[in-house]
Amino acid sequence: MADTDNMTETKEYFLDRPQTAAPFPLKGCQNLDWGMKNRLAHIFSPASGRTVMLAVDHGYFMGPTSGLERIDITINPLLGYADTLMCTRGVLRSMTPPTFNKGVVLRASGGPSILKELSDEQIAVSMEDAIRLNVAAVAVQVFIGGEFESRSVHNMTQLVDAGNRYGVPVLGVTAVGKQLTRDAQYMRLATRICAELGATYVKTYFVSEGFETVTASCPVPIVIAGGKKMPEDEALNMAFQAVDQGAAGVDMGRNIFQSEAPVAMIQAVRKVVHENMRPKEAYDYFLSLKAASA
Ligand code: 5RP
Repeated sequence: MADTDNMTETKEYFLDRPQTAAPFPLKGCQNLDWGMKNRLAHIFSPASGRTVMLAVDHGYFMGPTSGLERIDITINPLLGYADTLMCTRGVLRSMTPPTFNKGVVLRASGGPSILKELSDEQIAVSMEDAIRLNVAAVAVQVFIGGEFESRSVHNMTQLVDAGNRYGVPVLGVTAVGKQLTRDAQYMRLATRICAELGATYVKTYFVSEGFETVTASCPVPIVIAGGKKMPEDEALNMAFQAVDQGAAGVDMGRNIFQSEAPVAMIQAVRKVVHENMRPKEAYDYFLSLKAASA
């Protein structure tokens, strides 16, 4: 029964206080709809505005990459330390515990293997299936300068249209072909094209000269891929330089899961990304966690 008898007549409308709205912490995302922002908040920490995405989608064109032969054994123990998991729907359905309640960024393009021309990708997941999987975003590879450049851009714009219809962000992943130079000029071109054509955020590679011009000229957040495995201190230094020069985090795979101590490494990466820990300190932190777990 409704509690009408004791209904209080006292009201407080706070007439002297204008309604406020907390600013959304991500660059270029202020005008997105609520659902899109809510999904982004499952990827980027609202406190730091940054993310540590754990990328394990390599198998979609590379097969059982070192460190990913048994995702249930090597990756699932890392999930508690990631802000977001980036994977394929095959791995999500077959090996990822549904109790994982952080963001999932779903690989949504594919087709050619490492044996073929990589830019020959198609959309590989429908938006309907992405929503069924309750993902926070979909990711699509964009091959600027690649043989099938236009089609890869079209793959992205089709996903952007579908994502805008349902409030699902799209991560544009700039893919660097073997023949292309990885420099700031190329990264500015590739990231800006992704953003202009509707990517909600963009993944690119860190370049040691002029990376701040890449982040400055891209109107939406940028995260960096880790790239090939390098020594842990160098990978931590790269993550530090990237966020210091405007990146909103990392989407790191091999430099975490191929590390000699993956659980220690992902925690050290978190310190850099979310707490601006200096590379030397972060490396010492990695070594101490590694020693403690030995
Ligand atoms: C593959 C990808 C990977 O997710 C990306 O390269 C990140 O992984 P890594 O840090 O190992 O480079 O997009 O196409």
